[in-house]
Amino acid sequence: MWQKTFDVMGQRGEVVVDAGASRSLADRLAGSGLDAAGLVVADERLGDRVGALLEALAARGLRPALHLVRGGEAAKTWDTVAGILGAAVAAGVGRDGWLAAVGGGVVTDVAGFAAAVYLRGVAWAAVPTTLLGQIDAALGGKTGIDLPEGKNLVGAFHLPRWVLVDPGWLATLDRVAWRSGWGELVKTALLVGEDAWAAVCAAPPAWEDPAPALALLETAVRHKVEVVEADPRETGLRATLNLGHTVGHAWEALSGYTVPHGEAVGVGLLAALTLSERMLGLAPHYRRDLLAVLGRWGMPTRLGTWPLDRWWAVLRRDKKRRAGQMRWVLLRRPGEPVVTTVPDSEVGAVLSALGGDG
Ligand SMILES: NC(=O)c1ccc[n+]([C@@H]2O[C@H](COP(=O)([O-])OP(=O)(O)OC[C@H]3O[C@@H](n4cnc5c(N)ncnc54)[C@H](O)[C@@H]3O)[C@@H](O)[C@H]2O)c1
Repeated sequence: MWQKTFDVMGQRGEVVVDAGASRSLADRLAGSGLDAAGLVVADERLGDRVGALLEALAARGLRPALHLVRGGEAAKTWDTVAGILGAAVAAGVGRDGWLAAVGGGVVTDVAGFAAAVYLRGVAWAAVPTTLLGQIDAALGGKTGIDLPEGKNLVGAFHLPRWVLVDPGWLATLDRVAWRSGWGELVKTALLVGEDAWAAVCAAPPAWEDPAPALALLETAVRHKVEVVEADPRETGLRATLNLGHTVGHAWEALSGYTVPHGEAVGVGLLAALTLSERMLGLAPHYRRDLLAVLGRWGMPTRLGTWPLDRWWAVLRRDKKRRAGQMRWVLLRRPGEPVVTTVPDSEVGAVLSALGGDG
């Protein structure tokens, strides 16, 4: 078990990583001084598994109402938020009431956003149920929804009072959802250092044997929490969490978001390691090991193909730009990220090498 209380931008939260951590929600809420009435917002795929949670809450004198929402990116809309807010009103959730989000990154993003705006902000708990949610989306306090014009264009910073990371939920993930989180876990291992990287290289696909991948859960959660706490406004260190995301995001956007995020990040990491070899002298065996890891997990190792000017058009919209310059996260070695500029010629060469321009 790993547990940490942390402060981000004046808000306080507690993160727990433990088998069975979600069972502690009832005790935590009951001992918090919050009202009894609250709303559990759960992914509808988990509808039959939240019953035990609701019973535990009721047994501690709480009055949880249940509101089911659909997982998947298409649910990150105003309509879903409106549904949650209406359910909160109907459940009699007051200013000292609470929301609890049980689901993947979509549910925690959208329910966290509803908690941020309902009565100008109520306490909420996150019970992430996907690997991506557990190591990334539920941590750090960013909540929000998409607009037709783009992803995550509306949001609020609202730190969950509790994030309960319970690997028990992951047993039912399909391969797409496992790979989605795995891309981020691979990235985190490269940021953490050699031991974490060695563990990633040795892990079989989680649907064959989840234990080695799950052994990295705590390392990944700890890393994100420590980085967010050290740099909540993303002025320096937090930018390193974007390793692999510059090319990964561009590929997702070019594909109209049909390429799953984790798979795009996987090839984005290949691009980052190739640039790191060329610019910083990173040893080439890391890239070869990454190729083997992605291959073993059935993830792509080549980019989709578009003309280079289309790549540049989306790359230049990257949010990590500062003073007109694109900033790349590269690696000197595992555990030593460097945020830097890269000549266009190098980027073009790497996109071509990965099949991006055909
Ligand atoms: N707020 C942040 O800091 C942050 C960071 C990273 C990602 N995100 C967001 O997270 C979202 C992606 O998260 P995600 O991949 O978890 O998506 P998701 O919530 O859509 O879950 C993926 C799929 O898994 C299903 N699912 C959820 N839990 C399950 C379980 N235990 N067993 C079986 N199936 C289950 C869902 O119904 C869905 O079909 C994106 O919208 C992204 O923008 C947010």
